[in-house]
Amino acid sequence: MAYEITLLPFGVSFDCEEEETILEASIRQGIQLRYGCKHGGCGSCKAQIADGEVDLEEASSFALMDYERDRGLALLCSAYPLSDVAIELDDDYEESALRSGVPPRDLEARVVAAQALTHDLWHLELALTDPTTFAFRAGQYVEVRVPGTDAWRAFSMANPPSAADRVELLVKILPGGLFSRHVAGGLSVGDALSLRGPYGQFALIESEAPIVMVAGGSGLAPVWAMLGHLREEGSRRAVTLFYGARSARDLFWLDELDAMTRALPDFRFVPALSEPGSGDEWDGEVGLVTDVVARRCESLRGREGYLCGPPGMIDAAIDVLRGKGLFSSRIRYDKFVGTDS
Ligand code: FES
Repeated sequence: MAYEITLLPFGVSFDCEEEETILEASIRQGIQLRYGCKHGGCGSCKAQIADGEVDLEEASSFALMDYERDRGLALLCSAYPLSDVAIELDDDYEESALRSGVPPRDLEARVVAAQALTHDLWHLELALTDPTTFAFRAGQYVEVRVPGTDAWRAFSMANPPSAADRVELLVKILPGGLFSRHVAGGLSVGDALSLRGPYGQFALIESEAPIVMVAGGSGLAPVWAMLGHLREEGSRRAVTLFYGARSARDLFWLDELDAMTRALPDFRFVPALSEPGSGDEWDGEVGLVTDVVARRCESLRGREGYLCGPPGMIDAAIDVLRGKGLFSSRIRYDKFVGTDS
């Protein structure tokens, strides 16, 4: 049996089967509700139930406190409808963004290139074979099935949406990781991979506002897709990308980033090393990338912020950006949780 879920104040509605969560139903139908972990751990999908009943048995008491349940809040990734449901969305939702999603689909692909960029980061280029193209927004991610298992791992596309026949991914190699082992241990050109997607709401806001980006590690992937998209659009927006790495051996695509500074009319790339090695010839910024943002930026009022990397970096960057006058509603982020066990 299906129930109707209505998103207020816009009146956007979609069906939800009784055995799927409200978040699953929204993703399936391309409705862009906010989420992170998809399993009750992060609280990103918390929303106010305005009318109707939901089953919250699976919601963790950590991400949804008892007093929040009593106030009618729910984690949409853990909420099963027991009736038609109306949800009152936060003020910073926009109807156009809500409707801008693309329903995810199953995809088959073949490896075209697999290359180590650093000691622990690989670049994979996949050609889609079925279907041969798919639509996504710069900043979104796909899930890749670990061959021979039922496990899926999430990776952001590094290519812009115009390259609709392929998927480029940055894969962080984690010691003992399931997919890491597969990539570093023998993934070959021509190998088949199953994917599904696109997922996520990390995407550019349509505006002319100047942009500040903060990324770390493989978090460069979605940001790189955004930069490629801006370049193809002929955008004249001012963009500054702060990129955090531990030492010089963790940097990559420096020539490509240099070329991007010439391709975009107003783009600055600011790499920062938190622990430069003794042999590093480095005259750039040193310190945590978020400290570098704090040091180098005056007011950020009127800008948009796009953040991608480990959770600690994102939380610190949000604090810095807010402290510099950037409104929360203009900050988009994607937290990369480094699990591949
Ligand atoms: Fe993380 Fe729902 S998406 S708690």
